[in-house]
Amino acid sequence: MNQTGENRPHQGEGIERVPRHIAIIMDGNGRWARQRGLPRSAGHAAGAETFRRIATHCRNLGLEHLTVYAFSTENWKRSQDEVRGIMLLLEKYLHESIEKMEKDRIRLKILGDTSALSPGLRELIGRTDTIARRLPDCFQANVCLNYGGRDEIVRAVRRWKAAGPEEELTEQALSACMDTAGIPDPDLIIRTGGEYRISNFLLWEAAYSELLFCETLWPDFTEKDIDDAITVFRSRDRRFGGVKA
Ligand code: FPP
Repeated sequence: MNQTGENRPHQGEGIERVPRHIAIIMDGNGRWARQRGLPRSAGHAAGAETFRRIATHCRNLGLEHLTVYAFSTENWKRSQDEVRGIMLLLEKYLHESIEKMEKDRIRLKILGDTSALSPGLRELIGRTDTIARRLPDCFQANVCLNYGGRDEIVRAVRRWKAAGPEEELTEQALSACMDTAGIPDPDLIIRTGGEYRISNFLLWEAAYSELLFCETLWPDFTEKDIDDAITVFRSRDRRFGGVKA
C-alpha cells in the first residue's frame, strides 16, 4: 500500500518528528510473572496495565496510531486456563474502555478475525466500534486479537473476491481489504522480551517499517522506553528502496 498518498510513511519535520504509527509485539509477560513467582495470568494483567500507560503516552506525544499484538491466531495453542485468562482480561479492558474512550480521547479498534471470539467479546467490540465512530480524529489504539499476518492476507483476498471486483488486483486494492485499511503502515515496530522475530505480525504492513528489539519484558516497558525508541527511529535513514538525494 506504500505508494498511495494516504499510506505514505510519515517523515515529519525537523528533529522533533514523531512517527505516525508505532506497533508493538508485547512479549515477556510470562517470564515477568515467573521471575516473581506469580502465575502467568499476573504477567498478562501487568501487561494490560503497561498497554494502558503506553497508549496514553503515545496519545500525548501526538502519534496517530499505536498497534499491539494481544493474541495471535497461534496463541490458542496455550493452555485453556491461560487463554481463558487473557480473554477475561480483554473483556475487562473493553468494558473499561467503553466507559472511558470519549473522556480519554482514545479510539479503540480491534483488528483480527473476530468471528472465532466469544459472543460476549464480539458484542463489546461492536460497542467500542460504535463509540469510535464518534471520535473520528482521535489517537487510535489498535489491539490485534485472534490476529495473524498470513490469515489477514488470506481474509483480505477473500473480501476482495467477494466484492466481485471489476478492477485488477493491485497492492492498493488489497490494502483496502486488509484489517488495517485506512491505517498508515507502521513506521516503527518494537518487540520487547529479547526475541528477534516478527511472529506473523503485520506481514503486509511491515514492508518498510523500522524494527527495534529490546530485552525489556513487556510489563517493565516504560514511557521512557518509548521516548528512547523514538530517538533511535529519528536516527534511522529511511529510503524506502530509493537512494539518498
Ligand atoms: C506475550 O508474552 C504476551 C501475550 C501473548 C499476551 C498479551 C496480552 C496482554 C498484554 C494482555 C491483554 C492486552 C490488552 C491490550 C488489554 P508471553 O506470554 O509470550 O511471555 P513469555 O514469552 O515471557 O512467556
